[in-house]
Amino acid sequence: MNILIVDDEKAIQLLLKDFISEMEGAYNVILASNGKEALDIFIKEKIEIIIADVKMPVMDGLELLKKVKEIDDFVEVIVISGVSELSMDIEALKNNAIDFLLKPIYLEGLEVAVVRAEKQIEFKSKLKEKIKYLEELVDKKTRELIESEKIAAIGRLEQGLFHNISTPISSINVLSQCVLSCLKSKLKEMPGQKTFLEELIGQVANINRACVSTTKIIKNFMLKSRNEQQLDMEKNSLAELLKTEMQFLDANISFKHNVEKVIKIDETVPDVNIIYSDFSQTFYNLVNNALDAMENVDKKVLTVELAHDDNNIYIKVGDTGVGISEDIKDKIFDPFFTTKSKKDIDKNELVGTGLGLSECYKMMKPYNARIDIRNNKDKGVTVSIVLPKKGNAA
Ligand SMILES: Nc1ncnc2c1ncn2[C@@H]1O[C@H](COP(=O)(O)OP(=O)(O)OP(=O)(O)O)[C@@H](O)[C@H]1O
Ligand SMILES: [Mg+2]
Repeated sequence: MNILIVDDEKAIQLLLKDFISEMEGAYNVILASNGKEALDIFIKEKIEIIIADVKMPVMDGLELLKKVKEIDDFVEVIVISGVSELSMDIEALKNNAIDFLLKPIYLEGLEVAVVRAEKQIEFKSKLKEKIKYLEELVDKKTRELIESEKIAAIGRLEQGLFHNISTPISSINVLSQCVLSCLKSKLKEMPGQKTFLEELIGQVANINRACVSTTKIIKNFMLKSRNEQQLDMEKNSLAELLKTEMQFLDANISFKHNVEKVIKIDETVPDVNIIYSDFSQTFYNLVNNALDAMENVDKKVLTVELAHDDNNIYIKVGDTGVGISEDIKDKIFDPFFTTKSKKDIDKNELVGTGLGLSECYKMMKPYNARIDIRNNKDKGVTVSIVLPKKGNAA
């Protein structure tokens, strides 16, 4: 910690310097003979505590106090004055000096004042950290709120849009089935046209399959969009939730075509009482981490598993990515810890806020669920959500 002693009397400067250098703690003492000299040093160097005499040539202690506080409110100033300058002490306190000491200086009093100043700096820096954390959190939550408002608005639009699309799609579905059965009956009546009719039947069957799969996609989007709006605990099937989420992720073309998916879902897993979005968002965060980890590897395999035993339900997300090194293992759940770039400076870099896993932890906590993260034997990571059946199974 850097302490700047400002006094025009050399003897006092040295006395204070010797005393502080012998105090317990790592103090680096710098000397100045007047306020102006001290201010120049303060601007160039990181000074945490200033001990300044009031009466000095060029710039006095009170002016120095005002100026340094204007520049950086973090600095703590201890003012020293003679008995005749008591009104100045009041002025000093008004300007946020942490303490004032009377001459002749009682050195033990000085020690108490320095320790108090040090504690105040520690307190302020912890407070600053907390405020920064809260500001970032408020920022993130505000963005999420705006996002969820947007999603809700888009959700309402989607519901209308999907509804409007599904009506003509089901007409095409029904009509194509009619055409199919008509063509099949013609096949018996007109054996001479067999090749032509078979060709037509094949094409119409393709149209029908496309209708069925489009209907499925639309249903899925409608279901997800409705489920995401659910705010209370409700009975949900985790098997359905995972399947819906995986289909939803397929909307991302790169995910659909570049990532091999292995899905092992045990349909006998009991339903659970949950808020849908707690699990869909946690799963989404884990899958995104897995995809990020596989960004630069050739073999991208995502394994999603739902299993259970007598006590627990297991949701596992495995990848064949870069894995997690020992030195960061303990930090990955810390809010804002990320190995990705924080801002979109370089478009080729992965971007992360470092809040994904800490949010997952918060979302799983009410269910007493544990999140285990382990490196796989060969490559990548497997993250397991271990959800106790007790208290959660419906
Ligand atoms: N499957 C994984 N493989 C390798 N590293 C991982 C994996 N999952 C998490 N990590 C590591 O844990 C860190 C923290 O993850 P977290 O999800 O909290 O934040 P992020 O992914 O960096 O950012 P955000 O989730 O906000 O996009 C990641 O930056 C990464 O280093
Ligand atoms: Mg993440």
